[in-house]
Amino acid sequence: MLETLAPKAPDSLLKIIKMFREDLRREKIDLGVGVYKDATGNTPVMRAVKDAETRLLTNQKTKTYVGQQGDVEFLRLVGELVFGDAGADMVSIQAVGGTGALRLGCDLLRESGAKRVVLPAPCWPNHPSIVRAAGMAPIDAPFFNIGEQRIDMDALLGAFAQLERGDAVILQAVCHNPLGADFSLEQWANLADALNAHGITPFLDLAYQGFGDGIDEDVVGLRAFLARVPEAVIAVSEAKTFGIYRERVGALYVKTAEKARAVVMSNLAAIARANYSMPPDHGAAIVREVLGDAVLRQSWRDELDDIRAHIKRTRTALAAARVNSLPMHLIAAQKGMFSTLPLSEAQVVVLREQHAIYMTDTARINVAGLREADIPRFVEALKAVA
Ligand SMILES: Cc1ncc(COP(=O)(O)O)c(C=O)c1O
Repeated sequence: MLETLAPKAPDSLLKIIKMFREDLRREKIDLGVGVYKDATGNTPVMRAVKDAETRLLTNQKTKTYVGQQGDVEFLRLVGELVFGDAGADMVSIQAVGGTGALRLGCDLLRESGAKRVVLPAPCWPNHPSIVRAAGMAPIDAPFFNIGEQRIDMDALLGAFAQLERGDAVILQAVCHNPLGADFSLEQWANLADALNAHGITPFLDLAYQGFGDGIDEDVVGLRAFLARVPEAVIAVSEAKTFGIYRERVGALYVKTAEKARAVVMSNLAAIARANYSMPPDHGAAIVREVLGDAVLRQSWRDELDDIRAHIKRTRTALAAARVNSLPMHLIAAQKGMFSTLPLSEAQVVVLREQHAIYMTDTARINVAGLREADIPRFVEALKAVA
């Protein structure tokens, strides 16, 4: 029977990663893969994470199951970090990374009757796959003018007017992947009002808290938005914020009326139970240890501040470059690891083949992957193609 399966196209990013690995040119630059790299090109384990792991190794007494909801103290601490006091009123469940949280949330939306999920384009390429895998239809909505590097609010709000009550929309909370362009407070308010007016459920995706302007600053928009809507689903990833990508740490939070909370929780528990039963413990335990201890928490905040400062320096250096037709100065104002350059696929291929510079086919660059020493060569290569 299995021989009847049709092959699936490999993830386009994995294709780029493989090509980069097999490229023997020493001067090659990897701006494709989406992880933070320090000035030497490494993705280090944060000091607070190492210390937390040492404590866990010493103190952990059992490896028995944690429970259906996952680590409740982890959920409380992350809820506080993201939502402040409002976290206490949310339904929550630990998830297998932010991706797992997105899938749980999509399954929940489908169970509650949603059939379509709007994805402001360009979106994180995994969003449509997750929506489809959950049995719903992804709908593209215009969102961003790449040539001018600006959010097109009129186009996005116009698209909402075409939707039906019960549809949902996935919005990235901060440090948009792949655009680096975030909503202003005014835009968040407009979004909330439009979604309320059309009966569309917001699903927020928070994967880069601390990579934009600061841990607290990065959730100001999200919190203001949530205060304006009666219901929302929020997927949180701690992969980047704690540099624990492979530990698969995430959580799903749901804002809803008090009387609906027990039913929402029971649905989430049932979805998780039939899928992976219980989430992995180690990564969540690390986050719990770090957030729950004043010394580790400060050390983590300090290191995250350094990471953010490094990304900002790279953005500023790029913005200072004069590259013919590219609006490089706008890149500096953007947030987080990614930006998408207004380059054609043909230009991306020339950068790869002639200059050994790797980015996605859609010209997304991981700003955090660009070493200071490589900036002049990157800029010269851009000048040669654009
Ligand atoms: C926008 C966005 N959402 C969610 C995720 C999921 O992260 P993870 O599953 O690694 O926790 C990512 C990871 O790249 C992302 O960029």
